[in-house]
Amino acid sequence: MTISPTSSPKARLHRSELAVPAIRPELFPKAAAGAADAVFLDLEDSVPEAEKDRARANAVAAVRDLDWGRKILAVRVNGLDTPHFYKDLIALLAVGGDRLDIIMVPKIGDPREPFAVDLLASQIEANANRARRVGLGLVIETAKGLANVEAIATASPRTESLHLGVADLAASLGMRTTAIGGLNPDYATTAGLLDPWHFALARVITAARAAGLRPIDGPYGDFRDMEGLEAATRRARALGAEGKMAIHPGQVATLNAAFQPGEAEIAQARRVLAAMEAGRKEGRAAVALDGRLLDIASIRQAEAMVAKAERI
Ligand code: COA
Ligand code: MG
Repeated sequence: MTISPTSSPKARLHRSELAVPAIRPELFPKAAAGAADAVFLDLEDSVPEAEKDRARANAVAAVRDLDWGRKILAVRVNGLDTPHFYKDLIALLAVGGDRLDIIMVPKIGDPREPFAVDLLASQIEANANRARRVGLGLVIETAKGLANVEAIATASPRTESLHLGVADLAASLGMRTTAIGGLNPDYATTAGLLDPWHFALARVITAARAAGLRPIDGPYGDFRDMEGLEAATRRARALGAEGKMAIHPGQVATLNAAFQPGEAEIAQARRVLAAMEAGRKEGRAAVALDGRLLDIASIRQAEAMVAKAERI
């Protein structure tokens, strides 16, 4: 049996995911009270080397003590190739309590890495009597990670989401850009601009959907450019992304609105289901609605849309 993305237990509302540097605890209550479906406290690249211990302590306290409501709560830990990773994981799982939903692991390059994180997390959880198993969010942001993404996606049953990391990926691939997301005037034909992230994003989405995970697009760094954000968000949505990272709270409303099915779309999905049900009663699996073909695949598309609307 094939499992559609929204019928999997990993289907959670994940339209927007706000990054919050863990060295800025004054931002935590704002993020907790904000509209993002998911928040991640960052221990990695927004924290200078000398501040790693302080950031970790802030994140542990925030996970334990703040009210995060029904948000997906994540902490992005330092990479497996740093001397900080094991300390991050132990502190969050052994001292941080049960509220943390997701450990986000950056720069995943190989399926042995999530496997190793899973083993270590299992030991810490057993030792700490943690009441539930923490999930993993894996950031794909290196050439190696992108090349191995299918194997990475299925390496640990804890994995819930794959995230495209655009800035690091650009550096790793040698892309000629210093922008975080968005278009590049060099990447164009005489007919106009192309999307330089298309291949990476489509690849991450395909691997994530094939494994029943949530594909999350990387951030749009130019946080004053709302038009650019909207266009990048529509492109990600068109390809199948479940949501997108935000680096500024001013981006969240745009993401929530874009990844939320509109009323007209939901109404149309319900019409599709009604037309297919009527067809089924007449013994048909392919019917016409408004001059267009519907078949059993249309039911899956419509059900995914209606299920998402119901979660909202
Ligand atoms: N989470 C929660 N609140 C935030 C926030 C965040 N990530 N970024 C900004 N805010 C708050 C500010 O405190 C300010 O609140 P106020 O109205 O109560 O004063 C308000 O939102 C507007 O912020 P603004 O002044 O426009 O931004 P800034 O100059 O303070 O910060 C950034 C801009 C980009 C440095 C900051 O948004 C940031 O650090 N983002 C996250 C970066 C990150 O984590 N990167 C790594 C992962 S990709
Ligand atoms: Mg990165």
